[in-house]
Amino acid sequence: MTQDELKKAVAQAAVEYILPKLESDTIVGIGTGSTANFFIDFLAEHKALFDGAVASSDVSAERLKKHGIPVYDLNSVDQLAVYVDGADESNAKLQLIKGGGAALTREKIVTASADEFVCIADQSKWVKTLGAFPLPVEVIPMARAYVARELIKLGGDPVHRRGCITDNGGEILDVHGLNIEDAPGLEAAINQIVGVVSNGLFARRPADVLLLATETGVQTLRA
Ligand code: A5P
Repeated sequence: MTQDELKKAVAQAAVEYILPKLESDTIVGIGTGSTANFFIDFLAEHKALFDGAVASSDVSAERLKKHGIPVYDLNSVDQLAVYVDGADESNAKLQLIKGGGAALTREKIVTASADEFVCIADQSKWVKTLGAFPLPVEVIPMARAYVARELIKLGGDPVHRRGCITDNGGEILDVHGLNIEDAPGLEAAINQIVGVVSNGLFARRPADVLLLATETGVQTLRA
């Protein structure tokens, strides 16, 4: 199977996973990226079953609106039953690296607001140790060089993602060369650097469920 076929398979599996949870007043949290895009497209076939969505990026919000799914501001919503999003890496604890699409901060906010975080990924994202994928860190633009120096002290090799401005007006440093044994510890340490908006480690709040597309089918994994 191609990677896109695997992404479609897991996106379809995610729709089937959340269908029993959908009620007329349910608002679904929706992530960002190519796997999330497939999920949006499949979910749209069931739009009559739920109220609407909160999106973790302007791109996803536009895609939802094109399907006729109402998009809500998170501030107008009390609680999200479920959030569905992709990842760049997952380990067996369902700790993730996210942010390849630069939407990490909003993804983290929507994750924090959701009762259940369902991560959807193809098998290429499954790793023993996080860090081969460069860890995205969103920074306030004037702090970029300072944050980069602090990230070097933490053992990383930060590279400015040129031309990338996030939905929040931030910039992205991609931190190479990390071999992340203590993901919650590193997540907290990076958050302590002045000028950091957020980082792409989802370890203090990992996924609750990982739907992982493999050649032999979609596996449902819990930590
Ligand atoms: C967006 O910022 C990311 O966190 C994505 O969720 C992640 O990059 C996965 O993207 P794909 O589904 O395109 O692989």
